Amino acid sequence: MRALHWLVFLGAAIAVVAVELTDFFPKGSATRSALMNLHKSAGLSVLALMVLRLLARVSQPVPAPPPGGSRLMERAAGATHLLLYVLMLGMPVLGVLASAWRGRAVPFFGLEWTLPIAQNKALSDLAMDLHRTGATFVYIFVGLHAAAALWHQFVLKDRLLRRML
Ligand code: HEM
Ligand code: HEM
Repeated sequence: MRALHWLVFLGAAIAVVAVELTDFFPKGSATRSALMNLHKSAGLSVLALMVLRLLARVSQPVPAPPPGGSRLMERAAGATHLLLYVLMLGMPVLGVLASAWRGRAVPFFGLEWTLPIAQNKALSDLAMDLHRTGATFVYIFVGLHAAAALWHQFVLKDRLLRRML
């Protein structure tokens, strides 16, 4: 679970950095499309890792929350973790659907995956809108989650981060 946690973080970080860097390159340039391919490949890796993670999560006992936390804190952590699962599974699915409904193959590190679904511009636009809105939630909730981890580390000093390393 620990390895999967940090691999998902790495995949999501690569996906976000790659897509944000595309703004610095003109449309149609080779670098821009390479960055977009990297975005999609890293995003697909996140999807695969999250499926493994979900299976691992439901098939074994989970560690108890660290002692000393209030009920409210435990609930806030639980709700954030659930939302992070939804986002990390939902974002790549929306990205894949947006591409497939646009009639585009989905790249995966040099390979290509063509989904057997008909083109539909309206659905593609909808999936892309949701993907962009979801991106804002990713920034907010990954930010809150990381800030909470640092709070545990430096303010509560309860060694929570250590059990994730
Ligand atoms: C964890 C997985 C993913 C995350 C966190 C993520 C995040 C993002 C972010 C932050 C943006 C920029 C939004 C904006 O400009 O407002 C974006 C755009 C986009 N993403 Fe993803 N994404 C993921 C996976 C995927 C996958 C798997 C695909 C397709 C196979 C995909 C396709 C796209 C496309 C086509 C855009 C629009 C780029 C543009 O023209 O501006 N994404 N994504
Ligand atoms: C894409 C980014 C991230 C995602 C999606 C994510 C997701 C999650 C999820 C869902 C859990 C709950 C474990 C479970 O029930 O499966 C968790 C736990 C944890 N995360 Fe993250 N995380 C991310 C980034 C980070 C970062 C950057 C840090 C540190 C600064 C961090 C520190 C922790 C810690 C310490 C725990 C353990 C909590 C415990 O043992 O109870 N995470 N993470």
